[in-house]
Amino acid sequence: MCGIIGYIGNENAVPIILDGLKRLEYRGYDSSGIAVMNEDGFDVVKQKGRLSALEELVTRSSVKGFMGIGHTRWATHGEPSDINSHPHLGSQNKVAIVHNGIIENYRQIKERLEQKGIEFVSQTDSEVIAQLAEYYHAGDIVETVIRTANALEGSYALGIMCLDEPDKLIAIKKDNPLIIGVAEHGNFIASDVPAVLAHTNKVYYLNDKEIAILTKTGVEFYNMDREPIHKEPEIITWSLKSAEKGGYEHFMLKEIMEQPKVLKDTIQSAAGDGDNRRIIESLDISKFNRIVITACGSAYNAGMVGRYVFERLCRIPVEVELASEFRYKDPIVDYNTLVIIISQSGETADSIAAMREARRRGAVTLSIVNVIGSTIAKETDYTLYTMAGPEIAVATTKAFSAQLALLYILAVAFAKKLNRISDEEEGRLLSEIASLPDKAAEMLEKFDAIQKYAVTCVGCKSIFFIGRNIDYAIAMEGSLKLKEISYIHSEAYAGGELKHGTISLIEENTLVVAISCCEGLYEKIYSNVEQVISRGAKVLFIGNCIKAVPGEKLEIIELPKINEMFASSLSVIYLQLFSYYVAANKGLDIALIIESMHRTYEKQIFP
Ligand code: M6R
Repeated sequence: MCGIIGYIGNENAVPIILDGLKRLEYRGYDSSGIAVMNEDGFDVVKQKGRLSALEELVTRSSVKGFMGIGHTRWATHGEPSDINSHPHLGSQNKVAIVHNGIIENYRQIKERLEQKGIEFVSQTDSEVIAQLAEYYHAGDIVETVIRTANALEGSYALGIMCLDEPDKLIAIKKDNPLIIGVAEHGNFIASDVPAVLAHTNKVYYLNDKEIAILTKTGVEFYNMDREPIHKEPEIITWSLKSAEKGGYEHFMLKEIMEQPKVLKDTIQSAAGDGDNRRIIESLDISKFNRIVITACGSAYNAGMVGRYVFERLCRIPVEVELASEFRYKDPIVDYNTLVIIISQSGETADSIAAMREARRRGAVTLSIVNVIGSTIAKETDYTLYTMAGPEIAVATTKAFSAQLALLYILAVAFAKKLNRISDEEEGRLLSEIASLPDKAAEMLEKFDAIQKYAVTCVGCKSIFFIGRNIDYAIAMEGSLKLKEISYIHSEAYAGGELKHGTISLIEENTLVVAISCCEGLYEKIYSNVEQVISRGAKVLFIGNCIKAVPGEKLEIIELPKINEMFASSLSVIYLQLFSYYVAANKGLDIALIIESMHRTYEKQIFP
């Protein structure tokens, strides 16, 4: 996820673009840049780091112009650096672009262009767009954009300027958002409404493969056959503040809602033709006799889910270790061990220490990380990236889901390499995984039952989460999420463990959240549900194989059907929403609790 903005009009584009970028910073903040067009060509200022650094640089320069594009980046290809920052230019400096998305066939395009003598300067997938557009350009920019878009596979939202057409700003998109804003003094393209709301509330939403041609005085829309399209503008009624969160009250909720897209991107990158796939293919799993997964907090819980899936599919022993404990336990790892480090930020001090300890002992390390170029990503032997985009809320949601998706795909790939599953079985499992984004989207369209139930739980003093097998692993995540943001005491238990002591804490109206997606264990978990109800507990029973009927003490919420190995990806969505709505209705200053930026830096300083 990145943020893009463009302006053409009667005013100086520079301050307008900088202001728009500030409002898009939640979409990416590892580097940023702007390009404006003037009589001599393009002036480009871009650099690694937070937007404030770019602002300072631009203020010191004399950059000025009536048309420009800007970008705030969250790296997906090529680490954050000045050269990898956008905008990107073709090598003849004729075309400048900003891009949000992932170009899946960028390697092929790059190779083709390099064979024709075109020299690339960055490691990004985005530069190929500028280079290809310039290569195709024969005088008509709209034709160029159509040809370029036809050659691209993947997702994109693009802002394009061409020196030959100084009075046109061009936009096109596929599978990534782009809006067109229309103001008195000029016209805008942007990834999201907040970037333009200070100037106008009149916007057009671009559909896939629609082209917008903006001039100082108007905007025209075309399809890929160059036929004009009529579009109706929409009037935005949100305040600027709520618009930054896409209309959601908090970033946490926004990020929960982004999960179908994040799942889709992550699955595509690992099971389709993305960079993650190439890394998975290159790993020789046959040389390992054990897998150790190490991580902290939610990432550790993702590892717990992963362990069940790896062991079932690959029949390799898997241990999951808390990264904060790993280096103190004289861990048994050597060159026959694959150590998987999971981390959203890639900067958690304990996870870094665990990774270094594993390397010191000769283990092969593979990381599952969200932040490109982070310490863990750089220092491990193999790195898989979760395609979650920046996670602003302190409670992880979408990055956790992306971690699960990568673990599933890795487990299926290893099982296939080890001949534990047939081609047909591999195909069946991958298509189950591929169904996750749609099933997640379906759940996020109708979540009023969980929302309503959560509202009734705000007074709870203590909440227990139970499950068995994989459902126990995801119960741990449900419990962590709840205590983290609602400040309610909570424990997760394997259902069968309750009777060994903890059941004495279950009393009249204690809330127990039970999860049931492992069909073969349904009777077992149901018997735990009956036990706690008989002690007066009320139960929220979430699952996709539940046969019980709701009652005074028993609320049931159904999940879509899916292979039980992957069902945690669905149950966790309602567990996240449950925590969110309990916290949101508790009257705490939820914004302070559930949202905090700069978590990466905090963790480095306070390990
Ligand atoms: O950045 P990391 O994934 O390494 O962070 C690990 C934990 O601190 C993190 O998952 C934490 O538990 C979450 N904020 C919980 O929502």
